[in-house]
This record gives sequence, structure tokens and C-alpha cells, in this order.
Amino acid sequence: MPATPPGIRGAVITGWASALPPKVVTNDDLSQTLETSDEWIRERSGISERHIGGSTAELSIQSASAALEMAGIDPLEIDALVLSTTTPDRCVPATSATVQHALGLKCGAFDVNAACSGFVYSLTVAHGLIAMGSNKVLVIGTDTLSRITDWSDRNTAVLFADGSGAVVLEAVHGPGQMLAWDIDADGSAEDALYADLGGFIKMEGKEVFRRAVRIMVDSAQKSLAAAGLTSADIDVVIPHQANIRIIQSACERLEIPIEKAAIVLQFTGNTSSASIPLALVHAAETGLLKKGDTVLLVGFGAGMTAASAIIKWEGR
Ligand code: ACO
Repeated sequence: MPATPPGIRGAVITGWASALPPKVVTNDDLSQTLETSDEWIRERSGISERHIGGSTAELSIQSASAALEMAGIDPLEIDALVLSTTTPDRCVPATSATVQHALGLKCGAFDVNAACSGFVYSLTVAHGLIAMGSNKVLVIGTDTLSRITDWSDRNTAVLFADGSGAVVLEAVHGPGQMLAWDIDADGSAEDALYADLGGFIKMEGKEVFRRAVRIMVDSAQKSLAAAGLTSADIDVVIPHQANIRIIQSACERLEIPIEKAAIVLQFTGNTSSASIPLALVHAAETGLLKKGDTVLLVGFGAGMTAASAIIKWEGR
């Protein structure tokens, strides 16, 4: 690894891709075994269906290979792999070790667990690595929440799912795409959302909802202030995909029209670390996200963590 270079070294995203397991589970499928309905789930969460299956490593390898291909980068050129996940395949080693080997990377690799805020945490860490001398960093956000979901608990089973998204960051001279960032945590709220080792997710839904809106807005406002921007300067919001009502409330409080938000939860459910990159990739593919846009990424999750970043989207 080179010595920390003098001056400002920024980064830009040059490749991106996502992966969802092929198996689709609809709300009607869930209502066969749970006391719930398609109407209740759509009304209370915005979710219609979700993808289930695969391991965290398998989905990561899929999304990351496609992101590397898009960036036109040989795996040997990658200087570091940061894998955000709250559902590693093993306790030890980190799932990033499996992914590093499978992709043919020859570089440092580590997992970040900040629950659903993890992708933005990881993106921030990757920008830090580039500022200190890395040239190309791979960031992946993957979760397989279906493996820690109690499928007989209607409070959680209707929300959680599996998926992965990956981006390739490359160093540039000058400040690069990242205008500002914020990472937060409040460990006193740990019991509102947790899974013991080997256990299932337990969640106080109402409490998480109440806190989620507050901490997302707070984090976004910190990033906006740090960037010297207001919410009127934001072209696209990429929020964590937990619940459409949380996204609506946060957008309302931030005074950002909901039309500017990238939303995929209707077909992905809540995929934790994967949700922001899944929404980012979808926004890029559907044209919501355009070159030169000022983009707010903002998430919240167990911990309770929150994180946001404001980036200038460079496109391809
Ligand atoms: N189907 C039908 N009825 C249900 C279901 C269901 N799947 N789940 C709960 N209910 C019932 C409840 O038992 C309750 O019945 P009661 O009034 O007789 O007691 C009623 O529906 C209303 O329940 P509420 O909990 O008040 O419903 P609410 O509007 O709060 O919606 C929800 C519940 C969707 C869980 C919401 O609170 C939420 O999204 N919270 C945030 C969850 C979240 O974002 N978690 C992810 C965090 S990120 C991470 O780190 C993984």
C-alpha cells in the first residue's frame, strides 16, 4: 500500500450492480401460513413481494463480479474489499474472506456490521481508505435476513428479505464525489431491534419506526449542513428501504418531494445492508439518477445506527 499522499484525494463510483435471489415470495404466499394479508402488508409497509435465498457470500460474489465488470477492472487491481453485512455466513472468518478468494482479489478484506446503515458506513470507510492511498476499493452491501427471520412471527416475517449491491470506487485527484457524510449510533436503543447469536430478529416495530424517522432526518441534516447545502439542493434521495411510511415521513420533514426518492422496497422488502445499493442501482438503471445529480444516501438500523452521505453522481 502506498504512503498517504499529500493533498486531497477523492473517489468516484465507476461500477455498480445488484443481485437478488431468484425465488420470489409474495404477500399472498405469506398469508398462506401467517395471520396477515396482502392489503395489511402493502398498507403498513409498502412491500408487495421479496426475494429469498442464497448465502451472503453467494449474493456478494454475484453483485461484485458484475460491478467489477462494469468498471472494467481486473480483480487484482482492487486494493481493499469492504463488505457490509449483519448476516455473515460464519462467525469466523468474516464473509469478506470467502468473497475475496472467490473474486480472485489479492487485498485486505473485512466486514462492517452497522445493520441497515452499514452500506453508508462502508462507503465512508472506503472514501477514507482512498484518501489515505488506496486506488480502487470494492464496497458490497449484502444481507440474507431470511436466515434470521422467524417465519412464524408476522411482526417481522412480512418485512425482511435477501439481496446484495456493490460499487467500485476509484481514486481521483481533487475532492471527488463525496461532499459530506455522517455516521451515528445510539447503543441505548439496542433492545428495540436485535437477534441473539443463533436466534431470530426481535423488533419493537412502533419504537423502531418512531426513532427511525427522527435519526434519519437528524443524520441527513448533519450531512447537508456539513456540505453547506439545503434539502432544496438534493436531486435524488436514496433512503434505506424499510417501510414506505418511514421514507414518506422522513422526506416530509426534510421538505424533499417523495418523487425524488428511489424506492424498491415494493419488490425487495427490507434487505438491510443491501437496500441502499439496490435502490441506487435501480435509480441509475431507470434514469432517476443522472450525471451531475446531488444525491443524499440515508439509512438507519439496529444499534440503533444512522448514516448519511451526500455525493455528486458522476455516472458512467
Ligand atoms: N399482519 C396483520 N396484522 C399485523 C401484522 C401483520 N403482518 N403485524 C402486526 N399486526 C397487527 C398488530 O398485532 C396490531 O394489532 P393490535 O392493534 O390488535 O395489537 C396491529 O396490526 C397494528 O400493529 P402496529 O405495530 O401498530 O402496526 P404499525 O402501523 O406500527 O406497523 C410495522 C408495523 C410495519 C412493523 C411498523 O411499525 C414498522 O415498519 N416499524 C419499523 C420497522 C423497521 O423499520 N425495521 C427495520 C429496521 S432496520 C434493521 O436494522 C433491520
